[in-house]
Amino acid sequence: MKFNLTDVQNVIRERRSVRPEQFKPRKVHRDQIEALIEGANWAPTHGQTEPWRFKVYTESGLEFLQVKLAEAYLRTAKEESFLQSKYDRIRNRYLCASAGIVVYMKRQASEKIPEIEEVLAVGCAVQNMSLIATSYGMSLFWSSGSAVYDPQFAEEMGIALPDRVLGVLYPGYPEGEWPEGRRQFWMTKVEWFSE
Ligand SMILES: Cc1cc2nc3c(=O)[nH]c(=O)nc-3n(C[C@H](O)[C@H](O)[C@H](O)COP(=O)(O)O)c2cc1C
Repeated sequence: MKFNLTDVQNVIRERRSVRPEQFKPRKVHRDQIEALIEGANWAPTHGQTEPWRFKVYTESGLEFLQVKLAEAYLRTAKEESFLQSKYDRIRNRYLCASAGIVVYMKRQASEKIPEIEEVLAVGCAVQNMSLIATSYGMSLFWSSGSAVYDPQFAEEMGIALPDRVLGVLYPGYPEGEWPEGRRQFWMTKVEWFSE
């Protein structure tokens, strides 16, 4: 065994998504965010395109990001499903988190690699970040939804098609007990073919 399998399995199983509203006030430092992104950079990448890109918002930059996300939510939420409480939560998230990381996919100029593979590669990069966050005792909350996919939001972030915004990531230390994960039994998701 090249690495301790139990340690690796534990990090994978213990990784949890915790909303920034459930974070401790404890700050996440720049060197930790750099470690997350350095880990992201080791994700697999078809054709060596390395399509993962990040824009890190902290301090008053983070409030700016949340204002833009709240405006995007207002623009994109259907009238019947708009919730003032959700708007307020997005708008005020800068009070709970140390950083918001806009993650996006940088499309290869030739567009030879299928787009789905580039999006998958960014997903792998985010998983690397989440596992490193878990090692620090942090969660990395992946926020998506209509606001994040809003074309005007992308433009305000300086991101233009064919590049695509895939989410906003919030690192932080969960308040209280580390949450339990829940999954359906893995064996129900696999079929084997031996002949
Ligand atoms: C691509 C992607 C987007 C996600 N977007 C959201 C989101 O917008 N809001 C949210 O509450 N959770 C979001 N999540 C996190 C899931 O809710 C979370 O992974 C799931 O509840 C399982 O919990 P766990 O990550 O703690 O195992 C997202 C996860 C992924 C992979």
